[in-house]
Amino acid sequence: MDISVDKLLSQLGDLSIKEVLQLLALQFPGKATFSTSFSMEDQVIAHDILLNNIPISIFSLDTGRLFPETYSVWSATNEKYSTHIKAYYPNHQLLETFVAARGPNSFYESVDNRKECCFIRKVEPLKRALHGNAVWVTGLRAEHSPDRKDLPMLEWDESNQILKYHPLLHWSTEDVRRYIDDYNIPYNPLHDKGFVSIGCAPCTRAIKPGEDFRAGRWWWEDQNKKECGLHVHTEQSLKSVVQ
Ligand code: ADX
Ligand code: SF4
Repeated sequence: MDISVDKLLSQLGDLSIKEVLQLLALQFPGKATFSTSFSMEDQVIAHDILLNNIPISIFSLDTGRLFPETYSVWSATNEKYSTHIKAYYPNHQLLETFVAARGPNSFYESVDNRKECCFIRKVEPLKRALHGNAVWVTGLRAEHSPDRKDLPMLEWDESNQILKYHPLLHWSTEDVRRYIDDYNIPYNPLHDKGFVSIGCAPCTRAIKPGEDFRAGRWWWEDQNKKECGLHVHTEQSLKSVVQ
């Protein structure tokens, strides 16, 4: 079957997020997956998938450096929806070699070290998590970074050879919070302490009112270097997808 992003986009029309997720699960049976970092936005999507039993698998990349609060919201989610969210871990040989050579906190010393740490702890496990899937659902939001402002909700990810869907791309922080409150969804309490985008503990801090949303991530680096490699955007988002 040859499905183009354009064709899929035209089918989405005014469908709700739940309906789009159902449609994608139907179009790509057993090949749609959702990545969660247990952020507020990811919790909204997880709720829609789990409450409605939509056959989309859910995984998280456990870098080993996440906040204790992140593990708590993960457990609370498992409990609330009677599920077991799957975790992918870094390759132990790569990580042991890297930490032995550079130390546990080398990401503060250079951008290269930081990118290597992100590669080992996130990007390589992500490749394994996406393997065999045709659709990758994410919680990316345009507000989070200038890079994400012009993203389409549905895009072709050339580097991972997968169709990406960002259902909350145009939701505001208030929209996300309202949904979390309305449906009593478990969320990371760090969001109440000024944390906007939550990643690894040593590389994430709270932001002050008026600060850029991305200011809390890798704050010691230049503005334009602050991506970890999970989301690489290409110009080829309208390529057709062969299933
Ligand atoms: S990152 O590129 O800076 O690390 P960000 O924290 O903005 O990503 O999250 C954007 C989306 O990437 C999340 O909604 C989620 O889909 C995915 N993501 C980020 N971190 C993880 C993680 N540790 N495990 C699984 N998915 C993740
Ligand atoms: Fe390593 Fe920090 Fe990247 Fe986490 S965010 S993988 S600790 S460099």
